[in-house]
Amino acid sequence: MDIPPLRWLDPPDGPAIELLDQTRLPITETVLTCRDVDSLVDAISRLVVRGAPILGVAGAFGVALAAHRGDDVTAAAGLISRARPTAVNLGWGARRALAAYRYALADSYSDSERLAAGAALAEARAIAAEDAAASAAIAANGLALVPPGARVLTHCNTGALVSAGQGTAFAVILAAHRAGRLARLWVDETRPLLQGARLTSYEARRAGLPYAVLPDAAAASLMAAGEVDMVLVGADRVAADGSVANKVGTYSLAVLARHHRVPFVVAAPVSTIDFETPSGMAIVVEHRPAAEVTSYAGVPVAAAGSEAYNPAFDVTPPALITALVTQRGVVRPVNAGNLRALETGSGAADAGHGTACGVLSIASVER
Ligand code: MRU
Repeated sequence: MDIPPLRWLDPPDGPAIELLDQTRLPITETVLTCRDVDSLVDAISRLVVRGAPILGVAGAFGVALAAHRGDDVTAAAGLISRARPTAVNLGWGARRALAAYRYALADSYSDSERLAAGAALAEARAIAAEDAAASAAIAANGLALVPPGARVLTHCNTGALVSAGQGTAFAVILAAHRAGRLARLWVDETRPLLQGARLTSYEARRAGLPYAVLPDAAAASLMAAGEVDMVLVGADRVAADGSVANKVGTYSLAVLARHHRVPFVVAAPVSTIDFETPSGMAIVVEHRPAAEVTSYAGVPVAAAGSEAYNPAFDVTPPALITALVTQRGVVRPVNAGNLRALETGSGAADAGHGTACGVLSIASVER
């Protein structure tokens, strides 16, 4: 991808945040420039920028933008955090930049606002750099789970469009392709907004992957036909018990994978694990406008006046998840104890830390 999903503009062009408009992909590559927090919040709500890791980066740069403009930075962080309730990285990124801003403000004697704005921006840049590093480590750790000749099914979009690096699940898929292990990438179209058909095909095509787009409803017969060796998806929030909120349709895939004895693997940075949310039941699922279901690109696809059920995400229980790939290693089984060990680095028996120990080969993944 030549245009990054997000770019900070310094003066004289800024301060501003430039976003690759993902609502218009793959038809056109256009950028949207956000010069204030309201326009950034609007862009986040409309999915101009979307996907867990880049939302963390966007949240932090949004706080830096407010600080550079002399806005109320605390209020800005609150507005940004509430723009989308399920993706935990959004509020996490905003809070980190806000904390850096406040710390610098308390610490400096003169010119404090300018220094604090600089601290918020530096924190946003640090989050982006950490995300790029996490993405590379997730790719390396996840590659160990992909068998040669793998036919991998994915859902939604998890590549460079959602990251300062190569993404999460897609980064693993890309690594498998480069290692000569990927026979086929199956791309769920991902109704209703087609993040798979529009965005993952855009990334897969540019990377030269062998891929095919399928209707979400075709995943069952594809698995029944023995055409899927592994399901690999990202996450928007992982609760402390290992429940995974991800794009709606992920849960159905996990149920199907269990029925067909296909490994179901989730890839996410540790920043997507929310230890404050105890269980899947406690995850707030964003519900989006009915029009996203009853129409497409402004054209009605349901009878006028139809109501719609449009949750953006669903929650997959940990019992259906074979493994969670993070930058610190692969967690299996996915449960509260192993996640906690990953957080503290205390090294529980089944939680890997780094590529040298604890990363499981596909042969040891239960089928
Ligand atoms: O509504 P979206 O497009 O923001 O949903 C994104 C997803 O569900 C992704 O799968 C998830 O954020 C993982 S991205 C690494």
